Amino acid sequence: MYGTFVVGIVFCVGVGGISGQLVRVQLQRDTERRVDLCDRDSECVPSIQYCNTATESPSKLKKCGYMQDIRVEGVCCPASNNNVPNKRKRQTSNDSDESDLDKALDRASPEPIKPFPEDPSCGINSKTTSSIMNVQSTTASDWPWMAVFLETLGYTNFCGGVILNRRFVLTAAHCFKKYTKKDLVIRLGEYDFTMKNETQYIDYRATDIRVHPDYDKATNINDIAIVKLNRPTTYNTFIRPICLPKTNMVVYKKTAIVTGWGQTSFGGEISDILMEVPVPVWDHINCTSAFTQPIFRTNLCAASYNGGKDSCLGDSGGPLLMQRQDGKWTNIGVVSWGIGCAEQGKPGVYTKVTSYLKWIAVNAQDVN
Ligand code: ARG
Repeated sequence: MYGTFVVGIVFCVGVGGISGQLVRVQLQRDTERRVDLCDRDSECVPSIQYCNTATESPSKLKKCGYMQDIRVEGVCCPASNNNVPNKRKRQTSNDSDESDLDKALDRASPEPIKPFPEDPSCGINSKTTSSIMNVQSTTASDWPWMAVFLETLGYTNFCGGVILNRRFVLTAAHCFKKYTKKDLVIRLGEYDFTMKNETQYIDYRATDIRVHPDYDKATNINDIAIVKLNRPTTYNTFIRPICLPKTNMVVYKKTAIVTGWGQTSFGGEISDILMEVPVPVWDHINCTSAFTQPIFRTNLCAASYNGGKDSCLGDSGGPLLMQRQDGKWTNIGVVSWGIGCAEQGKPGVYTKVTSYLKWIAVNAQDVN
């Protein structure tokens, strides 16, 4: 969590022309590197999961240089309706806010998907958005839905998450690039890592890590995962679930709160104490034009417009929180990635939770 006190608001986004120029420079570099191209009847896609029509076994697919603002290594797929993320398509307003899997789940299920049951105690604390003015440490029971992932070797935290119900924690898919379920502990009810008994945290092991099946590490699309705890938790003052937003919740240009134990400056130390920082959610168009990397309709951007307030490394998987009309807190975003931290014009990028409500409902039901 990164935050400094900055007075005044300076808009510095919407520089549409820049990305075109950067792409051209990148293209030149790729030509110099003589990136492999695909045969005429196949096309280069970022990874095997974009091939709808792969006839070859995956290992036989030729490697190629896939261009999407940045060059990543891709594979050649027999061309025809491959599900390639297309920058222009993603950025138009009629592009769907739903993830492809959520749309497919709708089509596939004969009955509507059972809505995710909301616990009456979800999202309740004694805070209001307007009372949170700056980055600050919270008190121990402020954000009782926070989960933290620790690696078992050194017991250091590498990601955050939120409690969905007694059995499941929502977090980011990229948290599991390095760690598998035997390498981690999920701690609920933590607040200050330097104190032993302030909250009586409880550690759990993961019995299942459900990474979104369409997560792609090259583009960070669908950066969301659900982790199943080895036993159901019990709720108390320090352990309670978050609420989920409704599909139509209006979030753009509104203030959200991001919470975590991540770095308090880029490259600096992770925090011992849970931090909170208020950040406006950027308009989608300002978000896409802030980056040369692909931004999807299933992303949200948030950070102070003039820099200084942002999430940072170690906050990943943690929540971007917004208060509903009824005062309850909902998790509207999952901390995904950024360029540096808190730099002016480079907001934090989040996975937009409302795009994954069906996937969450399907994957976080079995609470016993
Ligand atoms: N990917 C980072 C992590 O694993 C999160 C970075 C967020 N960066 C930002 N500037 N908001 O912790």
